[in-house]
Amino acid sequence: MEILDGKTLANKIKAQAKIEIEQLKSKGIISGLAVILVGNNPASQVYVNMKTKACEEVGIYSINHRMPEEVNEKDLLYVIDMLNKNPLVNAILVQLPLPKKIDEEKVIEAIDPRKDVDGFHPYNMGKLSRGQPFIFPCTPYGIIKLFKEYKIELKGKDVCVVGAGNITGKPMSYMLLNENATVQICHIYTKNLKEKTKAADIIISATGKAHLIKEDMVKEGAIVVDVGIAKVNDKIIGDVDFENVSKIASFITPVPGGVGPMTIAMLISNTVFLSKQQNN
Ligand code: GUN
Repeated sequence: MEILDGKTLANKIKAQAKIEIEQLKSKGIISGLAVILVGNNPASQVYVNMKTKACEEVGIYSINHRMPEEVNEKDLLYVIDMLNKNPLVNAILVQLPLPKKIDEEKVIEAIDPRKDVDGFHPYNMGKLSRGQPFIFPCTPYGIIKLFKEYKIELKGKDVCVVGAGNITGKPMSYMLLNENATVQICHIYTKNLKEKTKAADIIISATGKAHLIKEDMVKEGAIVVDVGIAKVNDKIIGDVDFENVSKIASFITPVPGGVGPMTIAMLISNTVFLSKQQNN
């Protein structure tokens, strides 16, 4: 069994981004990322702090907009419009989830697709689904980078994606399809999940359900990627029962230190990409 070490690869990607950011600076171009955080979701606050810290490390100019839980949609859309028009801002990220009374779709659609660092805008998701990507959503992009780093071939592989969300499951499936993998997407209504995961060469689980993926659901030698983060008794627990699944997997990501750091690294990489796009 080999660990897919996201932490080490993320550091490598950030170091490369730092060099590119310095090259841009020497041409007078400052890469700028705006992060909008609405409300007091504790997990979102932790993620946003990690994103801001990573920006500082590599020399990205970052602006944080904190807005209260009770903010009205119009004010949020106004802030996005100002950021769309601000030439110092190359990339815009609205941390999800948003408070229930805000229409998430409307907010995502308000972001200029050219500044859509998450790749969540329907224009960018549409391009990705057609195999003509402009930008890749950070988490699935990080997972693809991990596969490439460890020379894991995707062409013709049977991949079971567990979780069909817009942040990971769906864009992950498009990206795998674009790599010529055979993709099965499972979700909460999937019957006999075990039968599906057990048949897969690669399992990617992004549900947030602690230890959903058990040893008896995994084929000997399969590759297992854990995107889940659940807090159980103040401990961070992944979707995968790592202790037991790691005994039969050929490659596996740990939690923490697997996919999480890759998401942040790809956010940095996407910010650099957008800065270059807007300055050429
Ligand atoms: N919430 C959880 N993951 C993400 C992400 O990658 N981007 C944004 N904007 N919100 C998230």
